[in-house]
Amino acid sequence: MTERLVLVTGACGEIGQALVQGLAKQGGYRIITADLSPLPDSIKAIALEHAQGDLVYKIKTFYDYDFDIIFHLAASLSSKAEVSSEDAHRINVEGTMQLLMLAAYRSEKYHKSVKFMFPSSIAAYGMPDLNVKKSAGCVKEDEYNLPHTMYGCNKLYCEKLGIYYSKYYGQKHLDEQPPYMLDFRAIRFPGLISAFTLPSGGTSDYGPEMLHAAAQGKPYACFVREDTKISFMAMPDAIKSLLMLLDVPREKLNHQVYNAAAFALTAGEFRRRALKAFPGAQITFEPNLRRQGIVDSWPEDVDDSLARADWGWQPDYDADAFFDDYFLPEIRKRYGK
Ligand code: SER
Repeated sequence: MTERLVLVTGACGEIGQALVQGLAKQGGYRIITADLSPLPDSIKAIALEHAQGDLVYKIKTFYDYDFDIIFHLAASLSSKAEVSSEDAHRINVEGTMQLLMLAAYRSEKYHKSVKFMFPSSIAAYGMPDLNVKKSAGCVKEDEYNLPHTMYGCNKLYCEKLGIYYSKYYGQKHLDEQPPYMLDFRAIRFPGLISAFTLPSGGTSDYGPEMLHAAAQGKPYACFVREDTKISFMAMPDAIKSLLMLLDVPREKLNHQVYNAAAFALTAGEFRRRALKAFPGAQITFEPNLRRQGIVDSWPEDVDDSLARADWGWQPDYDADAFFDDYFLPEIRKRYGK
């Protein structure tokens, strides 16, 4: 079987590193990576080539490649995007737009639908207040699409751009000839937690930061209230969902944007579980108003029944399995605790 040529942008990020390893493990791909940073050792040997630099300015480079698949992961996350919003817009929207145009061009020119995989986020939602957040519980894809953050606006808009380029670009008459539009697929992820890497610039970061700090015996002041609840997912499940969605035949997909859920926990519950695993852990709560506001605008949980119905999505790790079978064994190996 011919190997598929894949571009992974944001390859040095948390999802990027885990995804590149996941693709290599699965086999059948030639992987080109892109990121602002040089590749970390974890994936250096896997990438065929690495384009280092700002995607918006590097885009011309990629017109020389015959990509079958693009995983566009590069983004400025929610907390960082809020303090540097114009920059975030450029990275999150212009970068995506440039790549969508490239994928649309290649799909049309070579009559081959390039797959465009896009990680969206629970930040695409905006709950008007805490009462509504609490009463809404699990939200569906088309509810509360009123993001409060630059990052959330960027993600929601890029979903729309992806749908535009895959369905309506040039307003082609889809019934006249095979349209060969790009094949855009997105997953709205909850907060992701890896035992191997730490996020930076996100607002769900308090989850992974608290756990990594506890495992290292470092004190941690959590920047949201104890009762703050959002959904989280183990990184291996995030990679599993991306690789699953990648391979679903187009005709089985009734949607282009899917929620994927795993487990919803309060920050207090994270602390309780961290203390159980690491009894000496020092975890306090010192809410930061700005970051608290962001997390308060995200739903408590998401309804992923569309993904379950269309492509058989099911996470391997609920909260117990996340701690017992993934995070704690791996983190103990990592920090020797
Ligand atoms: N984890 C992301 C953030 O906190 C949300 O997608 O910004």
